Amino acid sequence: MKQKILVTGGTGYIGSHTTVELQNSGYDVVIVDNLSNSRIDVLDGIEKITGIRPEFEQFDLADQDMTDLFFKKQTDISAIIHFAAFKAVGESVENPLKYYRNNLFSLINLLECMTRYSTACLVFSSSCTVYGQPEILPVNENAPVQPAISPYGNTKQVSEEIIRDTLFVSGKLRAISLRYFNPVGAHPSSLIGELPIGVPNNLVPVITQTAIGIREQLKVFGSDYNTPDGSCIRDYIDVVDLAKAHVIAVKRLLEQKNRQALEFFNLGTGKGVSVFEVISTFEKATGVKVNYTVTGRRAGDVEQVWADTRLANSELGWKATTSLSETLRSAWNWEVYYRKYLEKSR
Ligand code: NAD
Ligand code: WQD
Repeated sequence: MKQKILVTGGTGYIGSHTTVELQNSGYDVVIVDNLSNSRIDVLDGIEKITGIRPEFEQFDLADQDMTDLFFKKQTDISAIIHFAAFKAVGESVENPLKYYRNNLFSLINLLECMTRYSTACLVFSSSCTVYGQPEILPVNENAPVQPAISPYGNTKQVSEEIIRDTLFVSGKLRAISLRYFNPVGAHPSSLIGELPIGVPNNLVPVITQTAIGIREQLKVFGSDYNTPDGSCIRDYIDVVDLAKAHVIAVKRLLEQKNRQALEFFNLGTGKGVSVFEVISTFEKATGVKVNYTVTGRRAGDVEQVWADTRLANSELGWKATTSLSETLRSAWNWEVYYRKYLEKSR
């Protein structure tokens, strides 16, 4: 019998790609999402790609009673991948309690239900933001967690602590915290991708929206950093590569191959790329020009960070394989597809 995985936030960007990979790997998926940052028709995209429509329940995981009711009904969940969270760094600075309530309450409710209903395995969506500006690059999992720059970043740090403390007393639960670097791109089918609601903050959606003419100009935030071309450096990881790592992490927990109750893995490519390099790679990969200008630095940006991926490579047997050109092409194809789709559905 197929094992069933609960994917919270499964209609979101990374959750939808992970659902596809889980279904393609023979797992059943039940998605819980309140659609606060995604659309129900993402399920159509998943179904078109895999031939399977995942089970779906719409409710807020920060609601304790609803979450309990869900677990009471769903008695055959083997593992949970917890993506559901708010993720806009700037908004979290303006409205910290919204972020603490949503991101922490939903995690606490899940952990309580895991204990109550004997669901042992949790994969948690964490972020390289926990490292701040690391002293040593590439950064590995033993680097110190630095004071968070934003309430959003703090929810990731506190979540990791909540998981650690809960596992310490439970004796039965096991978890993997995956620290993503910068997830970008879309499924090669262009049937699912990132849906930035409102004005995007992340580099790649701003590039694709500028290239297609929705935004007039991309602002490069600073060219006076201490990096080879003066712009910031990040580790841009393809979303499908990222999704595949989740399937491996779930399997590792289900098969009890984990070495500790709580494990941490960096998910990146291991390669640092500057903002100017992203723009030029996009232009070469798509043949489309990006209108940009250099402006001042963005508050809170770290200068450079990229992942030491050796632990994920050796322990998970996982490696990012998609080139940045392919990834940026998939982001562009998705942008084109999605704009046409929106026009048609108007
Ligand atoms: P997303 O916003 O596309 O997906 C999150 C989904 O969770 C959305 O569909 C939203 O509707 C849902 N959701 C939010 N709060 C909920 C709640 N209380 N109950 C039910 N559903 C809820 O975001 P994403 O980019 O797919 O990110 C997924 C996870 O990965 C998040 O935890 C995020 O913090 C983490 N992460 C993302 C990035 C990134 O750059 N995208 C980087 C590092 C970590
Ligand atoms: C990348 C680079 C910008 C937009 C954020 C969160 C982090 C994580 C991933 C969840 C930076 C530059 C951007 C623009 C630009 N999310 N840029 N012009 O800042 O690495 O990380 O998303 O956990 O927590 O902070 O990603 O895509 O916003 O920026 O020049 O219009 O692009 O300065 O150097 P970032 P990003």
